[in-house]
Amino acid sequence: MDNFPVVAQSDADLPNYTHKHKLLVQSAVESDSQAKARVGSDFDVRMMRRCLELARCALGRTSPNPLVGAVVVKDGEIVGEGFHPRAGEPHAEVFALRAAGDRARGATVYVSLEPCNHYGRTPPCSEGLIAAGVAKVVVGMVDPNPLVAGGGIARLRAAGIEVVVGVETEACQQLNEGFVHRILYKRPLGILKYAMTLDGKIATTSGHSAWVTNQDARGEVHQLRAACDAVIVGGNTVRLDNPHLTSHQMEAHNPLRVVMSRHLNLPEDARLWQTAQAPTLVLTEVGANPDFQKFLLKQGVEVVELTSLTPDQAMAHLYERGFCSVLWECGGTLTASAIAQGAVQKILAFIAPKIIGGSHAPTPVGDLGFTNMTEAIALERVRWRVVGSDCLVEGYLPQIKQ
Ligand SMILES: NC(=O)c1ccc[n+]([C@@H]2O[C@H](COP(=O)([O-])OP(=O)(O)OC[C@H]3O[C@@H](n4cnc5c(N)ncnc54)[C@H](OP(=O)(O)O)[C@@H]3O)[C@@H](O)[C@H]2O)c1
Ligand SMILES: [Zn+2]
Repeated sequence: MDNFPVVAQSDADLPNYTHKHKLLVQSAVESDSQAKARVGSDFDVRMMRRCLELARCALGRTSPNPLVGAVVVKDGEIVGEGFHPRAGEPHAEVFALRAAGDRARGATVYVSLEPCNHYGRTPPCSEGLIAAGVAKVVVGMVDPNPLVAGGGIARLRAAGIEVVVGVETEACQQLNEGFVHRILYKRPLGILKYAMTLDGKIATTSGHSAWVTNQDARGEVHQLRAACDAVIVGGNTVRLDNPHLTSHQMEAHNPLRVVMSRHLNLPEDARLWQTAQAPTLVLTEVGANPDFQKFLLKQGVEVVELTSLTPDQAMAHLYERGFCSVLWECGGTLTASAIAQGAVQKILAFIAPKIIGGSHAPTPVGDLGFTNMTEAIALERVRWRVVGSDCLVEGYLPQIKQ
C-alpha cells in the first residue's frame, strides 16, 4: 500500500450524506441480548453494504489505491460517511471522521478495508481513529499486502479499540479484486470480455460485428469499462470495428483506451484518435512506422514502443502506470496470446441467442495449441446470468502457481 498517500483536501469534496437516515439499532421493547445479536449481524451487514455503496462512488478512479467506504455510527444513527475519491486524496475514514466531528467519540466506525497503519504525508488512519476516540471498528476485509496485513487492526486493538473483522468480506474482496490482484501478482487483473452468437462467432466472415448482443448487454459493458483502468484492442479491431471504447455515460470514468499494433498500418480517421473525451495509448514495436507515430502524437494520442509487443509486456507497462484492472476487448488472435501469457484472469462472455454461421467467421479465442479436449481450460467460480435477451457467463481462469 505504498501508493496510498493521505493529503488533506477541502470539505467541499465530502460525500453528500445530508439525508442522514436514522437507523434504529433496537426497538425499545427488545432485550439487550436480542439487540446485541442484531448489531452483530443484520445491522453490521447493512452498514458494511453502505460502505461498499459509498466506495463505488469512486469506481474506476482510485488506482493504484483500492475503493474504500466508511461509515460512523453513533447511537444507531449514521453521523458521518466517506469514501476514498482518488489516489492522492484522503482515505475514506478521514472523510467519515471529519463529517462526524465530535460525535465520533465513542462511536462505531465501519470500513470496507482494514485501516492503513503507515505514515505518509499525514498520519495513518489507525492513528486518526484512535485520536477521534472511537470505541469500535468493524472491518470488511484485511489488507491483502502480506507485509502490512493485520497491522492496522493490531494497532487499533493495542489502543483498546474493539475490532470486528469479516463483515461482508466476500463483497469487499469482489469490489477490490483488481487491487488485490495487483498487490499479490504485480500485474493488473486482466478481464476478457467478448460477445458471441450462439454458434460461437464474434463477427461475420466479412468481419462485421455490430452488434452481436442487445442494448442491455452493451449497457453492462459500458459500466464495466467505467470500472476499469484500461481497455485493450488489437490493430484489426480498430481497422474493422472502429470502436469508441468509452463508457458512454456523462459522469462515468472512461478507461485509457489501448491499441496494440505491430506495424501501425491503422486508419487516420479512427474514432480512437479523438481524445477529447477519453485518452488513447498505442503500444507498438520499436521503430514502427515513424510517420504514423508523428500523426498520432499530433492527435494527442500517446505512443509507447515496447521492446517486445506481447500481452505480458503490455500488462507490465500498465502495472507501472498504477493500474489495477484491464479489460481485454480484442479479437481472437490477441485474446489467445493474452490467455497463453497469463494476462487474463477473469472471463465475461456475453452469448446472444442468434446464429450467424460461417466456417471462417472469427471466434472469441484463436489457437491455444491444444489438440485434446482434456487440455481445455476449465473456468472456476462460474456464474450464469440473463442480461436482457442475452446470457452472461462469468468465471475465472485457474490461477497459475507463481
Ligand atoms: N464480438 C466481440 O466481442 C469482438 C471484440 C473484438 C473484436 N471482434 C472482432 O474480431 C475481429 C478481429 O479479430 P483479431 O483477432 O484480428 O483481433 P485484434 O483485436 O485486432 O487483435 C489482433 C491484432 O492485434 C495486434 N497485435 C499486437 N500485438 C500482438 C500480439 N502479440 N499477438 C497478436 N496480435 C497482436 C495486431 O495488430 P496489427 O495488425 O495492427 O499489428 C493484430 O492484427 C474483428 O472482426 C472484430 O469485429 C469482436
Ligand atoms: Zn488510511
